[in-house]
Amino acid sequence: MYCSDIFISVLFFTYSSCALDTFTAAVYEHVPLFQNPNQAPVQEEALALMNKNIDVLEQAVETAAQKGAHIIVTPEYAICCLDLSRETVYPYLEDIPDPEVNWIPCSDPHRFGRAPVQNRLSCMAKNNSIYLVANFGDKKLCNNSDNNCPEDGHYIYDTTVVFNTEGKLIARYHKYHLFLGETQFNRPKEPEIVTFDTPFGKFGIFICYDILFHDPAITLVTQHNVDTVIFTTAWFNTLPHYSAVQFHSSWAMAMGTNLLSSNIHNTSMGMTGSGVFSPDELGPYYYNKHTDEGHLVISKLSSHPRKSKLFSSVKWDAYASSINHLSPGTKTFNGTIFIDSFTLTELQDAQGIHSICHNNLCCHLNYSMVEKRNEDVYVFGAYDGFHGPHKVFHVQVCTVLKCNSLETCINAAETASTRFEWFSLSGTFNTPYVFPEVLLSDVQLAPKMFRILEDGRLVSLPDKASKPLLSITLLGRNYEKDPAINMSLLT
Ligand SMILES: *[C@@H]1O[C@H](CO)[C@@H](O)[C@H](O)[C@H]1NC(C)=O
Ligand SMILES: *[C@@H]1O[C@H](CO)[C@@H](O)[C@H](O)[C@H]1NC(C)=O
Ligand SMILES: *[C@@H]1O[C@H](CO)[C@@H](O)[C@H](O)[C@H]1NC(C)=O
Ligand SMILES: *[C@@H]1O[C@H](CO)[C@@H](O)[C@H](O)[C@H]1NC(C)=O
Ligand SMILES: *[C@@H]1O[C@H](CO)[C@@H](O)[C@H](O)[C@H]1NC(C)=O
Ligand SMILES: *[C@@H]1O[C@H](CO)[C@@H](O)[C@H](O)[C@H]1NC(C)=O
Repeated sequence: MYCSDIFISVLFFTYSSCALDTFTAAVYEHVPLFQNPNQAPVQEEALALMNKNIDVLEQAVETAAQKGAHIIVTPEYAICCLDLSRETVYPYLEDIPDPEVNWIPCSDPHRFGRAPVQNRLSCMAKNNSIYLVANFGDKKLCNNSDNNCPEDGHYIYDTTVVFNTEGKLIARYHKYHLFLGETQFNRPKEPEIVTFDTPFGKFGIFICYDILFHDPAITLVTQHNVDTVIFTTAWFNTLPHYSAVQFHSSWAMAMGTNLLSSNIHNTSMGMTGSGVFSPDELGPYYYNKHTDEGHLVISKLSSHPRKSKLFSSVKWDAYASSINHLSPGTKTFNGTIFIDSFTLTELQDAQGIHSICHNNLCCHLNYSMVEKRNEDVYVFGAYDGFHGPHKVFHVQVCTVLKCNSLETCINAAETASTRFEWFSLSGTFNTPYVFPEVLLSDVQLAPKMFRILEDGRLVSLPDKASKPLLSITLLGRNYEKDPAINMSLLT
């Protein structure tokens, strides 16, 4: 590595003199060893358990380094803390200092008190000359000089850290959007904008549920121009619109950034799906519901993938607003998808043109199937409203889905046998943030099978061998309609 910080500072070179146009990224999908959530271990037992997880991560780090990876991302909850309570999580935590302190734990392990996990991660990064991203728990003491200090006298944060090739702690991010049930953690007072520069571009960080909200995720791209996002996650797959590789690859495509997405693997909890996503490639990725093994995904990426940002180059409503949405032949009904009540119509014919509306959104579809398989039921749907039971985020959705039957569209199908000759889907979205998703049978992505036109149409590419299709979706996020965050629920 001739581009290390030391070499640069000694010779007064700037990063640009040894900047890399491309780099190799690795993400590791890890099967975490679980703690007993009801029992608080003593500190040494907690460390022994974390070390067993880190032993597995270390193998992945060494393999990734041998294969030339510049950076490896390991998942949220890979080292500790899934399903633990406020009481049982404490022995697992370390005080993780602000990276401004300029600390290489591997060389100076005791500078900030007890920090065996940071020490070990730092040595792994240094030893393998690789940027290492890991997630565990940070604790910060507080007292009644701070009105918000929790009763137990400390804040606890779900935290992603980055060590550089010398083992230096260079970034620390505390998760902002905690998911339901993450009551062991506190939410930081404000969303943190955490970025760092490397010879292969500018990086930003957020964690799991953060990806569905504006801050810090969208701001990192629109205000801070990051090239690559580090995304540690423990993602429950929920079809038809929020399966891990489906939504995460779509985020990279829509935002015009790379996304290094590292998920934990537990099929009984519906967790699998990690990938090295770029705006144009949608992969490689890993999605496997059949075995319980970890997996390393490695790929080469452009350091500055900035050419195609859909949110600024596409006028999403241009095509759909130009057409007449009265389609007298289209019979609609109300149907539940996940738990949102969509306006739906069944695609009864092998080809057709339909328009349907829900609240302020009208969706338009022009399609042709190679042949309509009788066993496959497809619906076309529109939805404009809050998603899910807790109504914390607002979406506009135009979607074509295969359902197991009209009655069971609530749970989308995972396999299909109908192939489409072409499709064109558009909607009168009133947000620039629209995420395109196309899924094939067995929940596989469809790279190079579709594109987005400047007038907002998602269209199939001609002459591509079409595979059986599960869903085609444009998912708009109306961030400005999201309710304000209720801080009283979170501390
Ligand atoms: C660093 O690598 C060397 C050689 O592979 C190994 O012997 C040593 O244990 C490693 N140290 C750490 C802290 O991982
Ligand atoms: C309370 O916390 C503040 C801020 O961390 C610290 O400066 C102060 O010394 C603490 N006071 C006591 C009595 O521990
Ligand atoms: C998956 O998660 C469940 C529930 O936490 C746990 O009981 C099970 O052991 C995990 N499976 C594996 C393979 O780790
Ligand atoms: C469908 O839902 C809408 C409210 O979203 C309601 O006004 C309409 O009556 C419902 N239609 C049927 C057929 O139930
Ligand atoms: C539907 O799509 C087909 C194939 O792209 C095209 O020939 C046709 O003109 C389209 N129809 C409408 C009404 O847009
Ligand atoms: C926040 O949540 C608390 C507890 O559920 C509730 O009492 C309060 O009304 C909520 N505040 C707002 C602004 O929604």
